[in-house]
Amino acid sequence: MTSILGTGSSLPECVVTNEDYTKTLDTSDEWIYSRTGIKTRHIAKTETITELALEAAKRALLAANTEAGEIGLIVSACITPYNLCPSLSCELMALLGASCPAFDINGACSGFIYALKTADAMRNGKKALVLGAEKLSSVTDFTDRATAVLFGDGAGACVIGDGEGGAGILGLEIFAHPDVHGVLRIAGLDNPEPSVIRMNGRETFKFATRELERVVNLVLEKAGHTKDDVRWFIPHQANARIVMTAAERLNVPYERFYMNIERIANTSSATIAIALDELARSGELERGDLIVLAAFGGGLTSGACVVRW
Ligand code: ACO
Repeated sequence: MTSILGTGSSLPECVVTNEDYTKTLDTSDEWIYSRTGIKTRHIAKTETITELALEAAKRALLAANTEAGEIGLIVSACITPYNLCPSLSCELMALLGASCPAFDINGACSGFIYALKTADAMRNGKKALVLGAEKLSSVTDFTDRATAVLFGDGAGACVIGDGEGGAGILGLEIFAHPDVHGVLRIAGLDNPEPSVIRMNGRETFKFATRELERVVNLVLEKAGHTKDDVRWFIPHQANARIVMTAAERLNVPYERFYMNIERIANTSSATIAIALDELARSGELERGDLIVLAAFGGGLTSGACVVRW
């Protein structure tokens, strides 16, 4: 069974507060915190996304007691790479001194779950390096108060491989749904529109709360477990109120959701990977604990994963 052998993460040095945004936008700490749960976010002013991802990958390799040469596959979820070609994963392979297939995928904010699913299916008995890494500040419209305050930069990684003693991924499901309301868009190179995040906040909110509830129930049922068996839920963190609403719908205490949105905001595909690393290093996660990762994002995409730690 595929197990998570070690995790790592990396955040840019620069911390931007809600107060900082009041200097350039018609907003307030009170509005941002009460509507989203966000106080600060890390913005990469000097670091590239490749540097952040490399640091996260090195930490995950160290935690997994794994040499780069043992890695048989690298899959990165990243929609904001430094280069479109070579991919972030290929750059990491070279920088780490690994020699293996490497490619990126675009699952937007569900990207890390998509990357886990892909790497699990393709690792062929070898260890794989899986990342969620984003520099969302490169696609943020800093003149738009409705989106600018929501996002941050960062990278998270894990090494997966054969587990021992019942530890491992017990269930992993991914989905895509037509974005009929144009909920979330970032124009690409062939699109004349500016390449910045455009979002219908209300519709995203509705989709996210519904979908978190659905995917958590579904993946647990398929894994033969119930919500009561779960020690920690690690949700994608776009808005604390989304998670609170989903927790209510699931009838699970909000305290069992690991949250870091107050400090880190929404880092898209990096969110769950960073949160998992923080939780793993916090001492709050013990061998044998059941955890559920659950994501939603542009596409529209969603996914969830049940893991025995
Ligand atoms: N500061 C002050 N006022 C603001 C700000 C701000 N930063 N942003 C918006 N407003 C204003 C709006 O202009 C609007 O003003 P108006 O009434 O004069 O027109 C008012 O606040 C209310 O706007 P709403 O959009 O209705 O506010 P809402 O309570 O819905 O909150 C929010 C907006 C926080 C974006 C919310 O809809 C939300 O979190 N949606 C989901 C966001 C999300 O999940 N994004 C995902 C991104 S990608 C991903 O991770 C999947």
